[in-house]
Amino acid sequence: MNTESITIPTKDTPKPHNDKKVLLEAMKYRYATKKFDPEKIISDEDFETLLEAARLSPTSFGMEPWKILVIQNRKIREEMMPYGWGARAGLSGASHFVVFLANKREDITFGSPYADHMLKDIHQVPPEVYDFYSQVYTRFGKEEMKILDSERTALDWTSKQAYIVMAYMGIDSCPLEGFNPADMTRLLGEEHHLFDTRHYGIAVMAAFGYRAETPHRDKSRKPLSESVEWVR
Ligand SMILES: Cc1cc2nc3c(=O)[nH]c(=O)nc-3n(C[C@H](O)[C@H](O)[C@H](O)COP(=O)(O)O)c2cc1C
Repeated sequence: MNTESITIPTKDTPKPHNDKKVLLEAMKYRYATKKFDPEKIISDEDFETLLEAARLSPTSFGMEPWKILVIQNRKIREEMMPYGWGARAGLSGASHFVVFLANKREDITFGSPYADHMLKDIHQVPPEVYDFYSQVYTRFGKEEMKILDSERTALDWTSKQAYIVMAYMGIDSCPLEGFNPADMTRLLGEEHHLFDTRHYGIAVMAAFGYRAETPHRDKSRKPLSESVEWVR
């Protein structure tokens, strides 16, 4: 796995043989893990696979407006506890603890150093595509989706992209929104300088590891007839 190369040879990937049973079993097995076994550590190879799966996730306009902090420092995890009311089990017991950052408005504005980096260095778009982006992306951001209206609308949009990358494998996980973003940003961004608060906000967090116990109850979900409507 070459995780440093900008170009990933994907176009000739054979169509996977998707086994429906395996997919449904993976979704039935997964649950928002509330108690992690602190002795069970995810191997470097498996965690790298999770990160690579995240990297391959789609993002709107291919902007990849996210960044991941993998917080393995025990002291910092301890300091995060008071501001992460829903995240304590993950902070204390999970093998790996991840904070998903999302880019702020300036970065996702057309022509910013970040947007230019994505288009020119990463996607290496030819000049005519760059000009096309200039029109379409600006119209999208300013007039249609209005994501550039405020810092809040911009971070909401970039956070949506960050949520998509939360992948699941046989590894247990718990997505986490149970934290105070302002306090957590002060701690991680301003006190520990783990990210530049001018460019990033915290989107969501997640704990990864292995369950210390089986789920206490079966899942409850709305029936599909309530959540899906077919328009034929
Ligand atoms: C975006 C998001 C944020 C969540 N935040 C938390 C959290 O802070 N703490 C927690 O214990 N569970 C959290 N959960 C887990 C949900 O409570 C859980 O997924 C839901 O109750 C369904 O249970 P299941 O995932 O075990 O099937 C979160 C889930 C999502 C998708």
